[in-house]
Amino acid sequence: MKSFYITTAIDYVNGSPHLGHAYEKVLTDVIARFRRLMGDRVHFLTGVDEHGQKVQQSARKRGIEPQQFVDEVSQEFRDLCKHLNISNDDFIRTTEERHKKVVRRILQQLFDKGEIYKADYRGFYSTRQEQFLQEKDRLPDGSWPEIYGEVTEIVESNYFFKLSAYQDWLVEFLRKNENFVFPRYRQKQVLEFLKEPINDLCISRPRERLSWGIPLPFDEGYVTYVWFDALLNYYSAVEGTDFWPADFNVIGKDILVPAHAVYWPIMLHAAGLPLPKALLVHGWWSIAGSKMSKSTGNVVKPLEFADQFSVDALRYFLIREMNVGQDSDFSTELFLIRYNSDLANDLGNLVNRALNMTNRFAAGSIPAAEVAEEPEREVHALWEKTRDEALQLCEGLQFHSALDRTFTFIKAINAYIEKRAPWKLGKSADPADQARLRTSLATIAEALRLGATLLQAVMPSTTEKIQAALGYAPGSVWRDELVWGGRLTGCKVQASLVLFPRPQPAAKPEAEKK
Ligand code: MSP
Repeated sequence: MKSFYITTAIDYVNGSPHLGHAYEKVLTDVIARFRRLMGDRVHFLTGVDEHGQKVQQSARKRGIEPQQFVDEVSQEFRDLCKHLNISNDDFIRTTEERHKKVVRRILQQLFDKGEIYKADYRGFYSTRQEQFLQEKDRLPDGSWPEIYGEVTEIVESNYFFKLSAYQDWLVEFLRKNENFVFPRYRQKQVLEFLKEPINDLCISRPRERLSWGIPLPFDEGYVTYVWFDALLNYYSAVEGTDFWPADFNVIGKDILVPAHAVYWPIMLHAAGLPLPKALLVHGWWSIAGSKMSKSTGNVVKPLEFADQFSVDALRYFLIREMNVGQDSDFSTELFLIRYNSDLANDLGNLVNRALNMTNRFAAGSIPAAEVAEEPEREVHALWEKTRDEALQLCEGLQFHSALDRTFTFIKAINAYIEKRAPWKLGKSADPADQARLRTSLATIAEALRLGATLLQAVMPSTTEKIQAALGYAPGSVWRDELVWGGRLTGCKVQASLVLFPRPQPAAKPEAEKK
């Protein structure tokens, strides 16, 4: 069985989870679920990034110990996963012993190899971003962009990792491995960045300035900070298993260069460890046209949204609307358009009609198909095409297009119902019409079963609900479930199922109340 290891970025715990975090988890979950359905042995890791200055500061502000602070906020991220039906196999916290011990061992190993050295560092330091800045980060008027907060010049002794020694190796590696970064155009951005010489990476902070971190094994007066600690989570969580190297590290575009595309491959290479097979870089969500920002208050709280419209509706919107890699906009208006037209109208109505008509014309028991005339042949043919295309699109991470195809099929089932008009056939005493009626009920139910099966990775609960409403228990091999057949013959359908109720008017989530 092919093994497949996929990770999300680990989230900073200095704030509550927002839509960006939710999206990354849902996207990764859809990939993980899809691979499981395709028969892979999947390991899906997510987690939280708990060390650093900001956490130390936030805890201090609340007058509690950092550990208590991270315990509380981490729980919110765990709850988010549970609530959004994320099928992660593991959840890592960087304060866990299993992680710290791996970070320390690798640091020691690199130090022993001479890859880490001590030197004086003078530079402009942004506390908010926890990084030293460079001249090129200044605005044309010489000031620092607002995102850096307060910037001060400091000099201190620190440890450095010999990043620059590996620049040529990395360029060569990226040239040879064109698919290391997905989408491909992002790999070009990395190569662009590597046209300029890179600096060695400062990997430590003196403990008196930052105590909330992993002490360096070769100098306890320092802790390691940010990227060395954070990146190694992908490896530390599975060390000793056969899952490494990861198939995908899923991340947002802001942490590709230099963290994931430069530091990460070089760290692994220098430590003699295999590199992940690919980095999957997604775009960013804006909210109603503007950047998500706590200060303007337009941060969508994903759980509120899921509570109001259902988890599956939120999952559907996120995956349908965003072409993986590009940016997208989230607003209640856009959400409601999708919710009403795709989910309530096309899918919800189809389910209602299938159940109603089976109850009305066949006493609730799905009949067998008896004829295959033009309308049936059309639906069959469209199904074959839809399934083949959708699977291929999912393999290529084009989930938004796969959903588009699936909903074209769902609309076509509704059109088939109009064409066959079972309510008219039900009035005819002609045996040929009665055979057509039974066939149409069988065709509607079977097509609905297939469409619902194709939605499983994105809307797992919806698929289950539809299967249950059709009185059907699926087999264990998903691909077999995608074959048109007579599995539903004799299944007893439920009286009704309301999947996506019409939202109450004026239902605006908190984030968009101005
Ligand atoms: N802790 C680091 C990552 C370390 S990975 C070894 C971090 N954390 S974060 O909480 O700021 O971001 C976590 C993930 O959420 C990142 O991949 C980031 O791109 C993603 N998003 C944050 N805001 C986002 C949007 N507005 N839209 C989509 N994703 C966004 O960076």
